[in-house]
Amino acid sequence: MAKVYPAGELRLENVGEEVTVNGWVNNRRDLGGLIFIVLRDRGGLVQVAIDPRDNPEAHAAASDVRNEYVLRVTGTVRKRPEGTINEKLPTGQIEIVPSKFEVLNPAKPLPFQVNDNAEVDELQRLRYRYLDLRRPFMQHNLIMRHRITKYMRDYLDERGFLEIETPILIKSTPEGARDYLVPSRVHPGEFYALPQSPQQLKQLLMVSGIEKYFQIARCFRDEDLRADRQPEFTQLDIEMSFIQQEAILQLLEGLYTGMAQKLRPDKKILQTPFPRFSYDESMARFGNDKPDIRFGMELTDVSDLVKESEFKVFSGAIAAGGQVKGLLLPGCGSYSRRELDGLVEFVKQFGAKGLAYLQLEGETGNLTSKSPAAKFFTPEQLQAITAPFGPEVKGGDLLVFVADQPGVVANALGRLRNEMGKRLNLLDKNVFAFCWVTDFPLLEWNADENRWDAVHHPFTAPKPEDVPLLDTDPGKARANAYDLVCNGYETAGGSIRIHNRDVQTKMFSLMSYSLEDTQARFGHMLSAFEYGAPPHGGIAAGLDRTVMLFTDEENIRNVIAFPKTQSATDEMTQAPSPVDARQLKELHIALALPVEKKAGQAN
Ligand code: AMO
Ligand code: AMP
Repeated sequence: MAKVYPAGELRLENVGEEVTVNGWVNNRRDLGGLIFIVLRDRGGLVQVAIDPRDNPEAHAAASDVRNEYVLRVTGTVRKRPEGTINEKLPTGQIEIVPSKFEVLNPAKPLPFQVNDNAEVDELQRLRYRYLDLRRPFMQHNLIMRHRITKYMRDYLDERGFLEIETPILIKSTPEGARDYLVPSRVHPGEFYALPQSPQQLKQLLMVSGIEKYFQIARCFRDEDLRADRQPEFTQLDIEMSFIQQEAILQLLEGLYTGMAQKLRPDKKILQTPFPRFSYDESMARFGNDKPDIRFGMELTDVSDLVKESEFKVFSGAIAAGGQVKGLLLPGCGSYSRRELDGLVEFVKQFGAKGLAYLQLEGETGNLTSKSPAAKFFTPEQLQAITAPFGPEVKGGDLLVFVADQPGVVANALGRLRNEMGKRLNLLDKNVFAFCWVTDFPLLEWNADENRWDAVHHPFTAPKPEDVPLLDTDPGKARANAYDLVCNGYETAGGSIRIHNRDVQTKMFSLMSYSLEDTQARFGHMLSAFEYGAPPHGGIAAGLDRTVMLFTDEENIRNVIAFPKTQSATDEMTQAPSPVDARQLKELHIALALPVEKKAGQAN
């Protein structure tokens, strides 16, 4: 019996051997007499050479096959004749001369080719996902996802963590998104919520004495989707007892460093230990809480230098309690009027009232500008304004400024910084720029609902020294919360938890939950805290986002086997879809549909 080989593994050493390979027709060339078929399986490609003189039967069969037919070929491995060697293929030195050629299954013409990575309409790809997943880059992404998951499991297992599953049908665990609900047949009118994360359960496992928990956990959030979000996604979820924040940061740092070195040795880790920024510092320097530190171009405060200026846009904003900050855009001083207007429109999308700019000319130390805003400044004032941007400011550069309240300034300039980083090609693909953002605010004021919201989630502990602020100035209280950021993506987020019933009750009351409501929703947590709850904390890393980073993908759907579209549909199975009236009746559900869509109507 011929030995069965993965197609991609055959080499010169196998010459003369009788082998069997199984796979798909990647492509087929008919040279009149000779037929060459490149057979593909998961591991690679191998060429089969069929000569009518050697094997007329095989030749007849091979004449009929088309791309993506499924074949089993048995034959002898032979060295390819000189001049026909394919250096690009690992199996390119050899080919198989078949003694037996079986078509296991034919294939219809495909809706798109799967033997290359060519651009294909995404809806088509999602509709025929089982074909799309045959494509080389999608196979590569799934393999990388597997390796990452395996690395995570091994890393945590070696450190004494237990992998424990938690239920999918559960009570609502708020993470700030809307819940997906599942009606109960047995309990009319009652619903399970799919977990937004295993947050409460992992904390309860700490009360159970598990000490070190992890799970590759599916999470469900009904929220507006973006390029890096899915309604169901996966977390590496971690919780530990008797630890401080530092231990968790070290654990994750070791994980991501090791994983990067093993799985993407070609990439450089920008800096270890990972740099850390407090939330305030990150907002001040980068304008957001997930800074891309692959490039500089930091936000620079010039408020003190312009507060008395003639330029009312600046001095007025400062007088109103605001600030003026700017960005140095190297080499952009020659932007056309249209390009400059484009920048103004860009920041206006993010709440800025405008963007003032100075196109710099001349020598460093003696810079001038003919831009409209320049007329408000004396030559000395102009030098003073350019100075904080550093000694590298030069003629030909562009300075842009936003004057407003700090939140608006940060958002507008933070977005512009990222946009210009992209436009000016500053985002080095070969670098992993990890950093930590710590000391987040605990609460943020929700003006619509007239209450406080948890910035991370309601189980996050305030910094011990900030607990008194919960009574006096809750907005000033900082949390023991931290995010791991890589290349401008929030990769992981976690916190030290509240393990004290009184502090937890206080948090719920700030969030305007009534006592009854708190009891109904979180009674189990409060109760657990009364039976010897250890101090504990944890973190969850977005697995999908991690795989995106490790595969250089910008589309989260390219790292998930069967993802949802931007409108949360599954194009392949056509979910969600209407259900039988009988099923609804069993669930005690009556539909009250919006007028434009009637029951039973397809999407
Ligand atoms: P958080 O809500 O910050 O924390 O989520 C942790 C990480 O999960 C990823 N993530 C997502 N990935 C894809 N699609 C989404 N819709 C999505 N939402 C979040 C991000 C994020 O950093 N229970 C806490 C963790 C803890 O405190 O231990 C939690 O879920 O990479
Ligand atoms: P205006 O006085 O509104 O005509 O604006 C004069 C210049 O200042 C224009 O280039 C505006 O884009 C810019 N500008 C207006 N408001 C702001 C602001 N809040 N911050 C920065 N620049 C602004």
